[in-house]
Amino acid sequence: MFLSGSLKVFAGSSNPVLASAICKYLEIPLGSAKISAFPDGEKLIRVDDDVRGTDCFVVQSTCRPVDEHLMELLIFLDCLKRASAKRITAVIPYFGYARQDRKDEGRVPITAKLVANLIATAGADRVLAVDLHAHQLQGFFDIPVDHLTGELVLSKYFRDKKINNLTVVSPDVGNIRTASLYASHLGGDLAIIHKRRISGSEVKSYEIIGQVNGRNVLMCDDIIATAGTVCGATKLIKDRGAKKVYVGATHGVFAPQSFEKLKEAPIDEIVITDTIPLTEEAKETGSIKVFSVADMLGEAVRRIHKNESISNLFNSV
Ligand code: R5P
Repeated sequence: MFLSGSLKVFAGSSNPVLASAICKYLEIPLGSAKISAFPDGEKLIRVDDDVRGTDCFVVQSTCRPVDEHLMELLIFLDCLKRASAKRITAVIPYFGYARQDRKDEGRVPITAKLVANLIATAGADRVLAVDLHAHQLQGFFDIPVDHLTGELVLSKYFRDKKINNLTVVSPDVGNIRTASLYASHLGGDLAIIHKRRISGSEVKSYEIIGQVNGRNVLMCDDIIATAGTVCGATKLIKDRGAKKVYVGATHGVFAPQSFEKLKEAPIDEIVITDTIPLTEEAKETGSIKVFSVADMLGEAVRRIHKNESISNLFNSV
C-alpha cells in the first residue's frame, strides 16, 4: 500500500496496541510522541515528528481512567494543532461519556455534548468512532464524524460459526437497529427485550417480543459495563427456553463488579472487539474472545486520507 509521508498516526496511552495494528495495516510506522506527567500529575505530550502540513490521526479510546484518557486526547489535539498539522482526526474507538446524552431528569448535565465540544475546541477537524452508544451522537459534534460499527467484525465470526435456528436478541429498545443489522447479515429472526434501568448498576429485563424458545440466541449490545443488561437479558431468554446463548458486544468496558454477574449468567460465549484493551481480570476469565477492529479502522483512515467514501467500506469489509 503506498501512502505518502503526509499521513501520520499517533497513539494515546489508552490503546497503543490497537494504534500499532492500525499502522501495520497502513504499512506506516507509528508516529513518535512522548507522553509523560509532571510530579503533580499534569500530563505533558511532546510530538517528535515534524507534522507541519500533515494529515494527522490520534487513536485514543476514552475508557478507564476516563478523565485521564480524555484529557490526554485533548492535549494531544492541541499539541498537533499548534505544530501546524494540516488536518487532525480524533480516532475514538470507544467514546466514554456517550451514555450521558440527554437530560432524563432535572438538573443533570449532557456530558456527551460537553465532551464533543471539548474535542472540537481542542483541535479535531474530524472524528472517527466505532459504535457510539446512540447514532444521533454524531450530531453532538459540529465537525464531520465517520461512524463505524463493530458489527462488521463480529458478524463475520458468527457467520463462520454457522449457527442454526438463530434468533438475534436486542437486550433493549435502544439497540434494535444494530440487532437488525446482525439479523440481516446472519439470516436469523429478531427479538427485543423490554428493559428498564433502575440505576447505573441495576437494570431489569421484563418481557421479550419475539421467539426464543428452542432457538440459539445471539444477544448483541454496544457495551458490556456492569453486565447488568446482558446478564438480566440472558437469564430471561434462558427461562423462556433458549438453547445456546452467545453474546456479541463492541466495547468490553467490564466494570469490576461485572465478573461476578457474568460467572452466574447462562452465557455460552462472549465475543467483543479490541476498542478497549482487555483488563487482566477479564483475561483471567478465559471465556471472552476478542476480535480486532484494527483493519477496519486502518481502512477508514486510508479512505479519509485519500478522500474516498467511508460508506462503501461497509460493503467491502
Ligand atoms: C444501554 O443502553 C446500552 O446499550 C448497554 O446495554 C448498557 O450500557 C450496558 O451497560 P451494563 O453492562 O452496565 O448494563
